[in-house]
Amino acid sequence: MSTGVLRAGIQGLGVYVPTRVLTNDDLAKMVDTSDEWITTRTGIKRRHIAGPDEVTSDLALIAARRALDDAGIGPRDLDLIIVGTATPDMFFPATACLVQDRLGAKQVGAFDLLAACSSFVYGLITAGQLIAAGAVQRALVIGAETLSRLIDWEDRRTSVLIGDGAGAAVLGPVTDGTGIYSGAVGADGSAGDVLKVQAGGSRMPISSEAIERKLHRAYMDGQAVFKLAVRTIPGLIKEAVARAGWTLDQVDRIVPHQANLRIIESMVAQLHLPMEKFVVNIQEYGNTSAASVPLALYEAVQAGQIRRGDRIVLAAFGGGFTYAACAMIWGK
Ligand code: UT7
Repeated sequence: MSTGVLRAGIQGLGVYVPTRVLTNDDLAKMVDTSDEWITTRTGIKRRHIAGPDEVTSDLALIAARRALDDAGIGPRDLDLIIVGTATPDMFFPATACLVQDRLGAKQVGAFDLLAACSSFVYGLITAGQLIAAGAVQRALVIGAETLSRLIDWEDRRTSVLIGDGAGAAVLGPVTDGTGIYSGAVGADGSAGDVLKVQAGGSRMPISSEAIERKLHRAYMDGQAVFKLAVRTIPGLIKEAVARAGWTLDQVDRIVPHQANLRIIESMVAQLHLPMEKFVVNIQEYGNTSAASVPLALYEAVQAGQIRRGDRIVLAAFGGGFTYAACAMIWGK
């Protein structure tokens, strides 16, 4: 049914996680931690870790091919590829260009977007606006990460949290009342220090001293990130819902960034919504950064938890500090 209003809708989804699995018990053999601590503090039981020869574009490429198949289109039907990642294959060329080439998406525009764990939702909102404005027809938005490469595996405060993976969505124009209704993005650059990789950029090029001090590894003030997330995300979800012209109780599912089960539980309590409305798969994948929202979305769709016509909200937060939420009516 055509409503005449042009929106961007997700027409295909694909994901990929590496086959290698690291359990909490495996980690307890590597650092001073336990399955009990990780489970009760985070909800994580397992995570998937890239093999030695697997890089971000490899994960992204498989997810991308699966999303194109799901949408029933080929790489040359695309106009734009956005890869959201904090762990690109290299500084440049952009991982999106590497994926474009390997997909065979000749001449298709391609760029990376860095908003840490919020990158996929930022990318979806960006591409969605370009489609709604008629600037592009079809876009491929990918969240892909190999955070395992940035982690200090001896640091139990971060190593137990992360996992690798990729998720991709094909976005195209829809006029049947489904698609993206609103997007809300934000950032607080003054809180950049709570989650960072200091060395490797222009401020502190890689040096033996930086490596010695492990400044090329991810640093996180976990409690600070936790507080920022629980203070920001419920309001952000409300904003996306209000901008869509909906009320919170009309929302069928919320797909939150999978960083910590306790952060999701705090959202549940603050929004006064039932836990069943929140998609949770952190137990299987840990925090996969930009891949976390598409991975959770994909699994919820596969499980029949999200169906055509459902009102859903995707919400993410991450280093920067960045945050983004997107309200849509599911149309597949
Ligand atoms: O994608 C966005 C980025 N990241 C996040 O969203 C993460 C947000 N933060 C969090 O999820 C939580 O803050 C953590 C899971 C990182 C930590 O949980 P917490 O409840 O805030 O623990 P804590 O940092 O207050 O540490 C409590 C205790 C400490 O010991 P003491 O000082 O009480 O003796 C830590 O040293 O737990 C200790 N600890 C651990 N113990 C066993 C910290 N990490 C571990 C560990 N295993 N892996």
